[in-house]
Amino acid sequence: MNEIRVAIDGPAGAGKSTVAKMVARRLGLLYIDTGAMYRAVTWKAIEEGIPLSDEQKLVELASNLHIRLQTNKQKQSVFVNDTNVTEQIRSKEVTEHVSTVSAIPGVRTSLVKMQQKLAQEQGVVMDGRDIGTCVIPDAEVKIFLTASLEERARRRMEELIRKGVQVDFEELKSSIAKRDEMDSSREFAPLRKAEDAYSIDTTNLSLDEVVEQIVSICEKQI
Ligand code: C5P
Repeated sequence: MNEIRVAIDGPAGAGKSTVAKMVARRLGLLYIDTGAMYRAVTWKAIEEGIPLSDEQKLVELASNLHIRLQTNKQKQSVFVNDTNVTEQIRSKEVTEHVSTVSAIPGVRTSLVKMQQKLAQEQGVVMDGRDIGTCVIPDAEVKIFLTASLEERARRRMEELIRKGVQVDFEELKSSIAKRDEMDSSREFAPLRKAEDAYSIDTTNLSLDEVVEQIVSICEKQI
């Protein structure tokens, strides 16, 4: 009875994955982090020394890659051809280049197919940039999560500090802004709010408040 599909989109660092994971747990749905898939392709391309300007090779790579997301309690692990790359795909290098790779239409076609298959098999909470507009345009619930750039950078900084990574706040802010700009201005499936998505600005909301709002929207659909 809980088999609804929840699409959560928004810019980098808006808290999508943390919120999506919590909503999925509350509703007994599978959480799928689509950003991890674009990161996995980017990681593998760097690993294999494929120039990021070689679109054809990147499209080939994406269509042959076996990406597996394994969810265990609150944690999602990412495997590429059976190698666990959960940590590697969060590196600064992958983060800097992922928007270049995700802008290639052929790369998106392969990953969107995988994502649509997953969403057909069970109820999901899927987060990304184009879930409500392209991947599951008929999702029962669509959410567009935002927060001010300052707040998103502050949250990301806290997360990195917790992991023991030193970063410069201004540098972090400009790298988030650059990624948003690339994701929003690409021609194919840009980051954009679906017309029928609920917009939630999380700048002044706690994590629990955001989760409660989304869960109550979802419960009306169940
Ligand atoms: O969500 P996350 O920040 O990990 O996503 C990394 C990148 O993957 C985004 O900046 C974007 O370029 C790409 N992405 C995308 N479409 C999605 C999910 C992520 O283009 N559905």
